[in-house]
Amino acid sequence: MTDKEKKVVLSLVQPSGELTIGNYLGAIRNFSKFQDEYNCFFAVADMHAITVDQVPADLRRRTKEVLALFIASGIDPEKCTLFIQSQVPEHAQLSWVLNSQAHMGQLSRMTQFKSKSKEHSGNINSALFTYPVLMAADILLYQTDLVPVGEDQNQHLELARDLAQRFNARYSETFTVPNAFIDKEMGKIYSLKDPDKKMSKSDPDSNSYILINDKSDVIRKKIKRAVTDDKNNFSYNDEQKGLKNLINIYSAFSQKSVEEIVKKYRGENYSNFKEDLGDLIVEKLSPIQEKYNEILNDKKYLTDIYTNGAIKAEKVAYKTLSKVYKKIGFLKREML
Ligand code: TYM
Repeated sequence: MTDKEKKVVLSLVQPSGELTIGNYLGAIRNFSKFQDEYNCFFAVADMHAITVDQVPADLRRRTKEVLALFIASGIDPEKCTLFIQSQVPEHAQLSWVLNSQAHMGQLSRMTQFKSKSKEHSGNINSALFTYPVLMAADILLYQTDLVPVGEDQNQHLELARDLAQRFNARYSETFTVPNAFIDKEMGKIYSLKDPDKKMSKSDPDSNSYILINDKSDVIRKKIKRAVTDDKNNFSYNDEQKGLKNLINIYSAFSQKSVEEIVKKYRGENYSNFKEDLGDLIVEKLSPIQEKYNEILNDKKYLTDIYTNGAIKAEKVAYKTLSKVYKKIGFLKREML
């Protein structure tokens, strides 16, 4: 099958901090599963990252780190297009057009906007508000069929679908209407300290998350300290949310079913399970960490990948944007 005949998968990750196992299990781990059968685009959302304050040198470093992590976690740059959002200007251009279609009311209902405005109350800029419109542009530019994301992005996906449908209805069929691909259990990995909250790199308590790059002893320590309960009953249910979250993480890293895990540890105290879980995470993350460091040390390799990726991505993006410009009544710029 040629790329043109294949369905399209796309997802982006922000370089706004170190990545956690929530990012990995909820999204990045799934990316490589699509690469043989789909035409895949994976990118670093550096434009989204500047909706909150960033130190420029850190932003540059993290942008490369996210790309390296994509590859270290199994994405093959020969099979997929890997690029950096700001290097394909069509993202900003389509975003502006879609802004003229997105309603203020709809954007103000976005839960991520509400929580981020609280978190960054000193800098509620307008890009933070229109952030989901840029995300819709990311998706719609590539005529994307499927978007693998964590559950927290579902509302943004709904907006992208809405904007595509609205535009198609008004100006004739232009965009593919995308679907979210969300892993039922892994779509939301919770904080290790408060299982009612999502695991997040922006949490001030570093014991609440495990970074993909955490050292072995740090990982084991964080799992040991993870909040469970005092029921002394090893089972999987919504009353024991802390334990349920840890069982989900175990299941994801071991490929074992929840039933198998519960059977294995039933009757034991939680500390044996936690010890095994710490070891398991260390075992599964260390090859990724090794490969990641290797890639980061090879500057030319990464630069080649994202430079070629931007060229490939822009060909597709330009085609969609040109159609959009024509349909809305912008004059074509003639070449002299
Ligand atoms: P970001 O950078 O916050 O997160 C990257 C991916 O990780 C998922 N994720 C989680 N999944 C499970 N449990 C968690 N605790 C957890 N935390 C994060 C996120 O759902 C996401 O899939 N707006 C997006 C980036 C973006 C994008 C796009 C995604 C920009 N344009 C177009 C898809 C398509 C974001 O901020 O993700």
